[in-house]
Formats: sequence, structure tokens, C-alpha cells
Amino acid sequence: MRPQPFQVERWFSAHEFSVAFNIAESCIKPLTVNEISRITGHDLPLELDEMSLGYTDSSGDPRLRRAIASMYPDLSAEDVLVTNGAIEANYLAFAAAVNLGDGVIVVHPAYQQLYEIPSALGARVKRWAIRKENGFIPDVRELADLIDRDTRLIVLNFPHNPSGIAPDPAVLRRICEIAGERGIVVHSDEVYRGLRLDGREPSPSVREFLPGATVIGSASKAFGLSGARIGWIAAKPDIIRRCAEHRDYVSICSAKPSELIARVVFENATKILSRNRRIARENYEVLMNWARDNEEFFGLASPNEGVVAFPWFTSPCSSEDFCTKLIQSEDVLLVPGSCFDVENHFRIGFGYARESLEEGLSRLSRFARGYFKGA
Ligand SMILES: Cc1ncc(COP(=O)(O)O)c(C=O)c1O
Repeated sequence: MRPQPFQVERWFSAHEFSVAFNIAESCIKPLTVNEISRITGHDLPLELDEMSLGYTDSSGDPRLRRAIASMYPDLSAEDVLVTNGAIEANYLAFAAAVNLGDGVIVVHPAYQQLYEIPSALGARVKRWAIRKENGFIPDVRELADLIDRDTRLIVLNFPHNPSGIAPDPAVLRRICEIAGERGIVVHSDEVYRGLRLDGREPSPSVREFLPGATVIGSASKAFGLSGARIGWIAAKPDIIRRCAEHRDYVSICSAKPSELIARVVFENATKILSRNRRIARENYEVLMNWARDNEEFFGLASPNEGVVAFPWFTSPCSSEDFCTKLIQSEDVLLVPGSCFDVENHFRIGFGYARESLEEGLSRLSRFARGYFKGA
């Protein structure tokens, strides 16, 4: 299997740790171990000091799996496999479910893994276009047209990366009905659930509409633990078993310190998410004010869940040229739309420190004036 290079990851690898103002990340501002201890009242530094660093249960610590299962209705620990980030979860779930020649429909634009790995496994991948003209809301009639007799899998990612749009639950329900009626498996990457920006309830999991769906989750995005590398798969027993068998050849198990940290965070999800929602909502206001002040150069569909958005240029230009020159002259990192195979856009992340976001956006505005108007 030889997937194409992962464009977003290559871009981050080149720039992420050398820029001064990173406003490209897709996660909420990461927690520190001390912060988790303060918020939860759990003495994590002491527990980590005394931890013996042997292998862990290859399915994941049972208490962690129970904490994950409790985030969904009608799910038990046995239905969950803990992985090294959602990236491993997606990989294993595709390896378990995709066969040569299968038809796979994937929302697009998307995190490249979601179409690249099925394609590298020999599937015939069709892209289901999510358009800015529709406010990045998927058009369910188009999905029905894309389905053919070979379609075996529909891959979703809502809330959506890169737009930050979570469609109405009725849309998710309809997608699940269409898949369910035809016996098509839904693979739903839900790593951006949890940080609602408009005061409404966070998006439901598609498991609520289709209990047989394969659902992917992560500690990275809404919880702020990307460095812990904890993700999971919740799926039917045969899929979980096949993922576990494949996983034995990839990573054996997750890291023990990370499993402890994730469990403490998930068991105290209400408190942790309230810290994270406050940051997300405050920063969202900063982003929306910036967008209003910069309508001359940029358009924006207001995101409603998570901390990413996918603005576009009002004067068409090469996204990679713009983003590369922005780094060179202002030390500010965005992700060019070209990394998502979509031109004339860039992805912005607004989950990190507010001061850095404000400075990064102000530099972006200054740079755009020079780039588009020679000012
Ligand atoms: C849609 C999507 N799925 C999965 C991942 C991987 O997340 P993790 O850090 O949990 O491996 C990302 C990371 O950006 C993502 O955007």
C-alpha cells in the first residue's frame, strides 16, 4: 500500500514548530498536567511518578474504555478500542472494512486520510462535494446520486474539517437512513464534536441514528490532549475484533501515561469541556470580528462547532503562494486550501491562546493589504 503524501501533515511538519504565530491548529489550547490536576482535583503528577511503565491492555485500559463508552447512548466498554490518536483509529477501521474494488463515498474537502487510505487499499473512491455556496452543508440528494451497486462505505466527518460546520441533526439522520436502507456501512469521524460555538447542544454521534455505524473519536481536538495521542473506535464487535487483530501489527497498545491522563480528563469531561468551550467561544468572537473587518479580502462561513474555519479569498489567488509568503513576511501559519485539494481557501484554527490569535490575525490583515493592493 502506497498512499500519496499527506499534504496537511507535510505542511505542518515543515512549519509548525518554527513560526511565531500558529493560527493553523485544529485543537483547543492543550491542557498541562498541572492544569488537569487543578481542574479535576486528581493528583496526576503523583500518579505518574509512581506509575510502572509496562505494556497496557491492547484494547485499552478498561476504565478508560468505560469512560469513552459513557459518552454515547447504549455503548459498552467492549464496543470500544483505544488507539494512538484518531489517525490510528481511522487507519485500522479502513483496514478492517475496505476491500479491493469496494465503492467508497467520502465527503470532500476532508482530512486527506479519509479518502487516501481507502483509495490506497484499492477502493473506488467518489468524493461527495461539500460546497461553500451551500454554507458547507452537505446536499443529501447528491449523496443518493453518488451511490451505486458497489458502494460499501460512506465516510463522514461532521463537525467538518476544514469548515467547522456541523449540519443539523436532521441531515445526519437522513444520511443514516439512506445508508441503512441500502445496507451501506457509515464510517463517521467525529473528532470535532463537543465545542459548540452557538450555544446549541453539541452534534449528536451518528450512532444515535445508526447503531451499527463505525465511529471515530479523539482526545486531541475538543479535549486539548493532542500530545497524549489517544483516540478510539466504537463499532460492531466484528469490526472491533478485526481492528484489534490489525493493531497487533501496528502499535500493540497505547501509552500508559496517556491512558491515565485521558481517563481522568474524560471522567471529568464536564469541567474540562467548560474550560475548553469558554476558550473556543471567546476566540470565535475574535475571529468573527476580524472577518467583519476584513470582508474586502476574505469571505467566511461562520463555523458552529470546533475551532477550525475555511475562509476564502475574495480575489482568487494561489493559496500556497499566499500562505508561504505570509510565513516569510509575518511569521504567521495558516494551512493553504491546496493541502485539501481546494484552491482559493485557507484553513484557520482559533483554539489556541487568544493573544496569539489576535496578533496572528492582525498580521494576516496587514499582509493581505500588501498582497492584494500593494499597500
Ligand atoms: C478529521 C480528522 N480525523 C482525525 C484526525 C487525527 O486526530 P488525532 O490527533 O486524534 O490522531 C484529525 C487531525 O487533524 C482530523 O482532522
